[in-house]
Amino acid sequence: MPDDQSRLDLFIDRMVSQRACLDHAIAQTKGMTGPVFELGLGNGRTYHHMAQYIKDRPVYVFERAVASHPDSTPPEDMVILGDVRETLPAALVRFGATASLIHADLGGHNREKNDAFARLVSPLIEPLLAEGGLMVSSDRMYFETLTELPLPTGAVEGRCFVYCR
Ligand SMILES: C[S@@+](CC[C@H](N)C(=O)[O-])C[C@H]1O[C@@H](n2cnc3c(N)ncnc32)[C@H](O)[C@@H]1O
Repeated sequence: MPDDQSRLDLFIDRMVSQRACLDHAIAQTKGMTGPVFELGLGNGRTYHHMAQYIKDRPVYVFERAVASHPDSTPPEDMVILGDVRETLPAALVRFGATASLIHADLGGHNREKNDAFARLVSPLIEPLLAEGGLMVSSDRMYFETLTELPLPTGAVEGRCFVYCR
């Protein structure tokens, strides 16, 4: 990360990159029927974007405590409530390797902690992705069987990551 960037610069880069990567992943996985997983609801901005543009597949949200904007709050039956360290293994039993698109934005302000958490959850996320599916993350992930793809136009290097099976 360049040291000369302000927090505002970094935030804008992250937002622009999330949208570019999500739009790319939504377009690339169009036609797939497997569910979409949003890991980390937060304010619900990226969930709202996905729900707005994905009409052909169910969008499930993994979150430990729902506190989103009222316009971005998913229906109760689409929320998988709890810590992802427990809900992701349970989702593998429930859904198998069927996810067409997984978006993860689970991090906070501490880059070292985000990286440690990304290492921890990578093996829990990896088996959920279907053949041909895409995974978009705000943090670098540590997958053994997924391949990192070049970023789409508009995304900023290091602010978002895209992986495919
Ligand atoms: C940065 S916010 C997501 C922001 C969201 N993409 C948006 O556009 O508003 C991260 C979210 O991940 C959730 N989260 C972090 N660690 C988690 C865990 N271990 N299990 C479940 N949710 C978690 C937090 O509660 C928080 O709501």
